Amino acid sequence: MPGVIDRYRELLPVDEATPVVSLGEGSTPLLPAPRLSERLGIDLYLQWEGANPTGSFKDRGMTVAISKALEEGARAVICASTGNSAASAAAYATRAGLVPVVLQPAGAVASGKVAQALALGARVLTVRGSFDEALAAARELSDRGTHVLVNSLNPFRLEGQKTAAFEIVEELGGAPDVLALPYGGGGNLCAYARGFDEAVGDEAPRIVAGEAAERATTVASAIRITDPVHASAVADAMRATGGSIVSLTDEAILRAWRALALEEGLFCEPASAAGLAALEEHPVERGVRVVCVVTGHGLKDPETAARLSATPVTVDADPDAIAQAAA
Ligand code: F0G
Repeated sequence: MPGVIDRYRELLPVDEATPVVSLGEGSTPLLPAPRLSERLGIDLYLQWEGANPTGSFKDRGMTVAISKALEEGARAVICASTGNSAASAAAYATRAGLVPVVLQPAGAVASGKVAQALALGARVLTVRGSFDEALAAARELSDRGTHVLVNSLNPFRLEGQKTAAFEIVEELGGAPDVLALPYGGGGNLCAYARGFDEAVGDEAPRIVAGEAAERATTVASAIRITDPVHASAVADAMRATGGSIVSLTDEAILRAWRALALEEGLFCEPASAAGLAALEEHPVERGVRVVCVVTGHGLKDPETAARLSATPVTVDADPDAIAQAAA
């Protein structure tokens, strides 16, 4: 499969001079969700963004941001991250021969993401402070001109991420009635709004966004962001599409996380279940067609998964003992 730049070249800010840095991102599965559809009384599809090369939707934007940074002669890139942008920046920057610097809020990044960014050659710095404080520092370095910022404030990131909306329209033959997704900093929500606007204009779906009620401390560490940088654009997208922002307890997020795993066989990280949690807490009309974006892979956060799941039972390699223990 071509990556998103080759697939949507004429709709993205690239030309023949742009060196394409790709890992084959995008073209992710849009999975029917028969059990959840029946339980919720809707026609539900899950856009499985954990199937991207580094395990999250960030790769769609990072391929464009890093390709443009390389084109413009950058040597180093920087991002503040709750972990997924970091892993993605590490992969694409390293592939491009650029130096990736990532700032992670102390004690707040799931272990799979830290391991991934380190293995991919990032200079990982743990910042004493929150995501929001780390982002302010990254912006300052970017203003000084030494590093290209590859957070979602980099306009090329959202350009790449809008391709997720194009894929939905192509696969369904039109826009769904509702799009549900997590809301952290809001960049991804704005990217979908732009993508649907470009693809279908007035037919754009209503957006139902799930955010953590306790943004600073939520178990969904990927969206542990107190000051969403895209808040005003998110408010505009909500007004334009008649959408709503749903505030979620950790219990509601984890219930949805479990439902995705046990009803549909999809293992995502907790933040990625916030779209489904929003649909569960704020039901939409029966019969409508809904796409729920599942943003990142469950292997990103193995501790939380292990903490919330059963422990394995140890048995002898004996068929009778195994049959008894497995019953
Ligand atoms: N889901 C996952 C798995 C994420 O990693 C993020 C954001 C979001 C949802 C929210 O997206 O910020 O565009 O509203 N992760 C960023 C990071 C903050 O650093 O990886 P958003």
